[in-house]
Amino acid sequence: MKTIIEPFKIKSVEPLRFTSRDEREAFLETAFLNPFLLHADDVLIDLLTDSGTTAMSALQWSGMMNGDEAYAGSRSYYRFERTLKELTGFTYVIPTHQGRAAEKILFSIVGGQGKVIPNNTHFDTTRANIEYSGATAVDLLTDVGKRPDVVADFKGNMDVDALVRLIDDVGVDNIPLVMMTVTNNSGGGQPVSMANMKAVRAVCTMYGIPFFIDACRFAENAMFIKMREPGYADRSVRSIVQEMFALADGATMSAKKDGMVNTGGFLAMHDSVLAEKARTVLIVTEGFPTYGGLARRDLEAMAQGLDEVLDEAYLTYRLRSVEYFGDHLRAHGVPILEPTGGHAVYLDASRFAPHIAPSQFPGQAIACALYVEGGIRGVEIGSLMFGTTDAHGIHVAPPMELVRLAIPRRVYTQSHIDYCIEIIVDVYKNRDALRGMKLTYEAPFLRHFTARLAYAE
Ligand code: F0G
Repeated sequence: MKTIIEPFKIKSVEPLRFTSRDEREAFLETAFLNPFLLHADDVLIDLLTDSGTTAMSALQWSGMMNGDEAYAGSRSYYRFERTLKELTGFTYVIPTHQGRAAEKILFSIVGGQGKVIPNNTHFDTTRANIEYSGATAVDLLTDVGKRPDVVADFKGNMDVDALVRLIDDVGVDNIPLVMMTVTNNSGGGQPVSMANMKAVRAVCTMYGIPFFIDACRFAENAMFIKMREPGYADRSVRSIVQEMFALADGATMSAKKDGMVNTGGFLAMHDSVLAEKARTVLIVTEGFPTYGGLARRDLEAMAQGLDEVLDEAYLTYRLRSVEYFGDHLRAHGVPILEPTGGHAVYLDASRFAPHIAPSQFPGQAIACALYVEGGIRGVEIGSLMFGTTDAHGIHVAPPMELVRLAIPRRVYTQSHIDYCIEIIVDVYKNRDALRGMKLTYEAPFLRHFTARLAYAE
């Protein structure tokens, strides 16, 4: 087989800024050992997120110029609505400025004290919006999904028996909806199978509970289904996507991922009463329903991006480029979450730095070392992001300690990734020098964004 190449050529470039190791040490200290607080100009290869970091296409940029900036009834809105209805089949489509705005609207309506929302794994903003409403967010990932060293096809799947137990435990009236995140970002960008979605749908139908998809990376998930799930090899990704959405009663989406744009999102559903309530909240918090907090040109770029993401040459390259990164790290013995997911490589911090206890944030120690060593910025997804403290003041760690290296779409080439591999291997060779950390400041919600840390003794 020939090398799978980037299925695009580059028309517009941005220079990278190189810094010295001494400079990076100083920058990191000023940022309180939290890469979120670094200036992006001081980062060489930015793998903090694949969200909103996409390089847009020539057609998206020309669509931006062609956007109709009418406040109400914009032509760009109708193009966006047409594209989404064709793709998802949902009756009502509500644009928002990004994914969490859709979550905020949805859970301010269906959440609240006493409510419980299951998911395979809630992303941090989803969990935060649910908890902010007073409701409880529950993760029901299958056991295999929690084991970073096990290779399996669909590690994003929900444990369907656990879902049934939860519904019986808390009572069907307390579960306003069941969510499914595709791909499962916090669980390693792992896909969910169509069979699992159908099984969850069947449970929801049996109990009369609506089923919602958190659709951020729907196209990557559909490509995994095409590649791995029996019966789907000859299907187009578009038809797989349509089958996925046909199972659901609604969806939230951050289009900053598979929407291939720098900002945007939506909330969609079939239920007219819910749509009416959502639009009312939207007008108060985001904007009129035909722009939802976005410039209308953003809707134009989103419509185009939602089409481009279904290009199977793009998706083949996308999944292969992430796999390439993982293959080379594994060949050097670096422990990663297996197998590689759709949008990122996740270092398995528990095996990378076993000498650092979860309460001292092994993932954060690795993330900081990658920056100092080579100007690479990744993000800890472990005890800093999801850890809690129990009534006795004891640290409660999440199931996995990870460092996510997310690959922005269409931005970096293979040599950028080769450089990252070299730096990660160097840090791994010197892993005994990694030191644990402690928090010196934390916010009450989503503490990882603004946390301040210091090295523990
Ligand atoms: N759901 C999932 C699965 C996500 O990955 C994200 C964002 C959101 C919801 C929220 O969307 O950022 O547009 O408000 N994930 C980004 C990331 C931030 O880096 O993974 P948003």
